[in-house]
Amino acid sequence: MDLRLSGRRALVTGASKGIGLAVAEELAAEGVDVAVCARDAAEVESAARRLRATGRRIHAQVADVTDPAQVEDLVQRSAEALGGIDILVNNAGAAHPGNFESLTDDDWRADLDVKLFSQIRCTRAALPHLRASVAARVININSVYARYPDPSFFATTVNRAACLNLSKALAREFGGDCILVNSVNIGFVVTPQWENIRRRRAPDSTQEDFFAELAKDEVPLGRFGTVDEVSGLVVFLASDRASYLTGTSIDVAGGMGKYV
Ligand SMILES: NC(=O)c1ccc[n+]([C@@H]2O[C@H](COP(=O)([O-])OP(=O)(O)OC[C@H]3O[C@@H](n4cnc5c(N)ncnc54)[C@H](OP(=O)(O)O)[C@@H]3O)[C@@H](O)[C@H]2O)c1
Repeated sequence: MDLRLSGRRALVTGASKGIGLAVAEELAAEGVDVAVCARDAAEVESAARRLRATGRRIHAQVADVTDPAQVEDLVQRSAEALGGIDILVNNAGAAHPGNFESLTDDDWRADLDVKLFSQIRCTRAALPHLRASVAARVININSVYARYPDPSFFATTVNRAACLNLSKALAREFGGDCILVNSVNIGFVVTPQWENIRRRRAPDSTQEDFFAELAKDEVPLGRFGTVDEVSGLVVFLASDRASYLTGTSIDVAGGMGKYV
């Protein structure tokens, strides 16, 4: 399938590793010039080296998406470096385990900042560039927990539901500007953040056993997903082949989530 993405320009937040890096790499492989950010400078540089090997124009910047000034600067410098922005992938984020009684107000605020407000601010800052694009896309990386409440990921559950509504409302508001907005909801996908969760929850278990145990209870396909199983869908949504898709919410979760 020719995705006709060559020459487009994308900003992927949180792309130094995990899902974001896989998305940035697959976009670059399709001929897209890519801007990426994350907070850890060494990891940003290492991702930039990998991405430059594709031969595309790459802008890599240290930026924290919870800081409004850094978001403005990120979007502005990315657009300058690439000559515009056609595709925004709001991916930066982190799991915030914890049940209702263990979460403090500060935990809730921090989780809202990194999940909901990052998507709001990045989208707002990118709007002028998206309006100028011939094929504007916003793809929000969300979680199955948005529709499948899990009290052990209480903040994620509540805040991702808001992200899901943000995507749908943006799709409705900006359809007239031909800015297509979709949500990709992740179940369990092997990335560095899961290793952190395993260390906290089951330090004596191997990664393999920990993942197998979780997947056994929750995932009909019986396994964790891989980052390339997410990036393929994101790149498709970014492409011309997805030109009549907006306001959708697609799970990449091996069937996880007991809802229709
Ligand atoms: N993997 C899963 O099973 C799963 C499930 C549901 C939802 N998700 C969502 O999918 C997205 C990607 O997750 P992942 O599993 O790939 O996580 P990951 O491996 O931990 O990677 C997260 C990326 O985001 C960056 N990041 C985190 N906080 C940031 C901030 N405040 N500002 C800028 N960059 C930031 C990280 O770099 P720095 O730390 O250096 O900033 C890193 O590049 C997240 O939004 C996550 O919530 C993942």
